[in-house]
Amino acid sequence: MKSTVTHFSAKQFAVLLLGGILLIFPGVLGSATGAHCIFAPAAGVASAHIEASRVGVEILQQGGNAADAAVAVSMALAVVYPQAGNLGGGGFIVYRSAEGKNYVLDFRETAPAAARQDMYLDSAGAVLSAKSTLGGLAVGVPGTVRGLFRFHRRFGSLPWAKLLEPAIRLAEEGFVLNRYVSRSIRSAAAAFRKFPGSAAVFLPGGKAPEPGDRFYQKNLARSLRTIALHGERGFYRGEIAREIVKSVQMNGGILTVEDLKQYRAIEREPVVISYHDYRIITVPPPSSAGVVLAGLFNSLQTIDLGRFPFNSPQYIAFLSELEKRYFALRNQLLGDPDFIRMPLEQLYLPQFAARIVKQIDYRHPVPAAEISAQNLLGSESNQTTHFSVVDPAGNAVSMTTTLNGSFGCKLVAGSTGILLNNEMDDFATKPGSPNMYGLVQGRANSIAPGKRMLSSMSPVVVTRHDSLIGLLGSPGGPTIITSVFQVLLNLIEHRMDLQQSVSAPRFHQQWLPDSVEVEKNRFEPAVLEKLKQWGYHIVQRNHLGDVEAIWRKQGGWSICTDYRGNGIPAGY
Ligand code: DON
Repeated sequence: MKSTVTHFSAKQFAVLLLGGILLIFPGVLGSATGAHCIFAPAAGVASAHIEASRVGVEILQQGGNAADAAVAVSMALAVVYPQAGNLGGGGFIVYRSAEGKNYVLDFRETAPAAARQDMYLDSAGAVLSAKSTLGGLAVGVPGTVRGLFRFHRRFGSLPWAKLLEPAIRLAEEGFVLNRYVSRSIRSAAAAFRKFPGSAAVFLPGGKAPEPGDRFYQKNLARSLRTIALHGERGFYRGEIAREIVKSVQMNGGILTVEDLKQYRAIEREPVVISYHDYRIITVPPPSSAGVVLAGLFNSLQTIDLGRFPFNSPQYIAFLSELEKRYFALRNQLLGDPDFIRMPLEQLYLPQFAARIVKQIDYRHPVPAAEISAQNLLGSESNQTTHFSVVDPAGNAVSMTTTLNGSFGCKLVAGSTGILLNNEMDDFATKPGSPNMYGLVQGRANSIAPGKRMLSSMSPVVVTRHDSLIGLLGSPGGPTIITSVFQVLLNLIEHRMDLQQSVSAPRFHQQWLPDSVEVEKNRFEPAVLEKLKQWGYHIVQRNHLGDVEAIWRKQGGWSICTDYRGNGIPAGY
């Protein structure tokens, strides 16, 4: 097979590694924290797996456009990055054509028709959290295949079946497991053992495969061939649909053949945020990305952020207080626009953002319990993956997709080789109780038949003076939004290059729990001490996010994957 990944010589690699190790950022401790970056004059892909990035570049070099490459990358990720890449999950795409047209596709999962608001509560009203995360009842109606098919029909140029060939090959002929995927399988092993079909796929010979082992998914290859041949109908009707439903129902779920047949991917109006002379294009509800990012950036337009040095206590405190308020709004007000009314005009309003900023005195954090959507509005009422693709013509695809938890609900449907999501846990299974990301959400996001659960997925495309500047996104549940926010701030406000922007230490506040999460060993102790003195509760986390980004660089593109994950960029 002709390899199309930009390869480095051993010497170049050593220089790159050393460069990564030596990169010093204000307020940074630790080492080996440099993003993996390449320079590509024409086109490229940043994804969470080397094989997927390579597949994308192959398709581009065969004359495919960014939409073709995105379909092929997504299908390849379903094989080589099974903890998040998927056929049985959902996601969002932000697409920008070379002519400057923006487009958003929502292929988020929906609650099955038999879903009920209290389906995860016991008779005493207590949350049965295992039910919304593990096994058949956790499964939302998958959106990925319909989403990709629809996206391809609209913007693709190569035949659909051709774009599935690399994924079929990887599933049929196997691929070499890297340490990262092998570790993920090992951590999910106990859950896989609960489902014999899943164990047969992921624990061949009864145990988790080792790094360096060749990993085969023959059943998945067969399903991919069916989808290559019959398109979306190959998944939503016929044998695969029947197998999915049977397997979900045998494992406590309520999904029906009719649910699959009825599923629709929906084109939505992009959210366009103006920040200085940049435009940040992203997704509206049922993802909360657009509302929260618009609020954060609108708020920053009303102050001079430059007076807070990068990652100083003032900077972290101020932004955390801001994030706390927008997450309170998110968690209490947002949900599926086809089911609830949201005060979006107000939330997008610059005056509203200015009012939020005026409430903040960063030396005196307001306890989360005292912040509510109602008082903010005034009297009125482990695992996802992102990839970015740019083609030589300048078409760009920014796509985030997920099964929600790592390997979703851990259930492989019958003999299809297809893992199913546990996206139902993104609903407020009991308004006021935390979900698996600790998000405390309200009635706006409660369960109803056919409703989409609120997401934090934040694929973005950025333009300046109407020309494409870059695109990025991340996994990480609610930390997706704050990871994307901080990388954008680093690029736009702090003028860092892409490698520095992606590598810089991150922090996160999501209203409740009432704490600021900071990346471990990456902030000066004195900075954290100061924050504690002011009354912030600090929690250390290993990593926040795993950004896959492409940004304009003179004569081409800088393409970076995050040191926090295991992605490798590719380009030419
Ligand atoms: O849609 C959402 O917000 C979540 N289901 C995303 C899950 C995720 O990012 C997990 N990754 N680490």
